Amino acid sequence: MSLEVSDLSCGYEGQTIIHNVTLRVETGGFSTILGSNNAGKSTLINCLSGVVPATSGRIEFNGVDITNIAPHRRVRLGVVQVPEGRQLFSDMTVVENILMGAVPMGRIAKVELADRMDQVFALFPRLKDRRRQISGSLSGGEQQMLAIARGIMSRPKLLMLDEPSLGVAPLIVESIFEALAMLNRDGVTILLVEQNLALSLRYAASGFVLERGEVVVEGTSSELQSSSKTRRAYLGM
Ligand SMILES: Nc1ncnc2c1ncn2[C@@H]1O[C@H](COP(=O)(O)OP(=O)(O)OP(=O)(O)O)[C@@H](O)[C@H]1O
Ligand SMILES: [Mg+2]
Repeated sequence: MSLEVSDLSCGYEGQTIIHNVTLRVETGGFSTILGSNNAGKSTLINCLSGVVPATSGRIEFNGVDITNIAPHRRVRLGVVQVPEGRQLFSDMTVVENILMGAVPMGRIAKVELADRMDQVFALFPRLKDRRRQISGSLSGGEQQMLAIARGIMSRPKLLMLDEPSLGVAPLIVESIFEALAMLNRDGVTILLVEQNLALSLRYAASGFVLERGEVVVEGTSSELQSSSKTRRAYLGM
């Protein structure tokens, strides 16, 4: 059981950005996609969540071909993305935003919703303190926590994140990554897109380096850490 991507290509309006990418993320794994600016990281993860259509190749999740199914149906299968830039409902409260995360799942009993909300607040106590606050007035880090909180309301099996450290103060970044590590220990598979090499290799067990839309290196985090290829690709040299 895992995420299996084979020979995947995608892009925009006739321009191919991702070229024949093949990768595998084991169930329960914590994996990272690294790469410099414009390497295609966001495009790849958006294709895995269904926001960008695949032009060829295959995405399989736990044995099910999800290549051409709509994003909300992928969510129902457990494939959930926390988007870059967070896309919160800024004039809604923290609690209202969190509840939106359960919408793609259809009807959920009130007790079940309350239970999920408790789990979210256990993971991010800061959000509990600010539950009635309008989300637009949260700090960058708190907004990122809220985006993740919303994402986990649908009980993902695979949680994908696009640069969760972006625009977040260093101390808060650590607590966000600790929360991801906790989710991972609870069995959620994590696929993380990051530009921050040191940070992501510290938390992820393995990863891939993307260069101009192709996987150029893959391995365990310590292999990636010591690979000269990683640094070259990463620095875009
Ligand atoms: N919506 C879009 N329409 C057309 N081209 C796009 C679109 N989004 C991204 N691109 C192009 O795709 C290429 C890869 O961009 P992408 O955002 O996937 O890279 P990235 O690795 O996530 O970069 P960054 O580190 O800056 O977030 C770039 O050349 C970019 O201009
Ligand atoms: Mg990006």
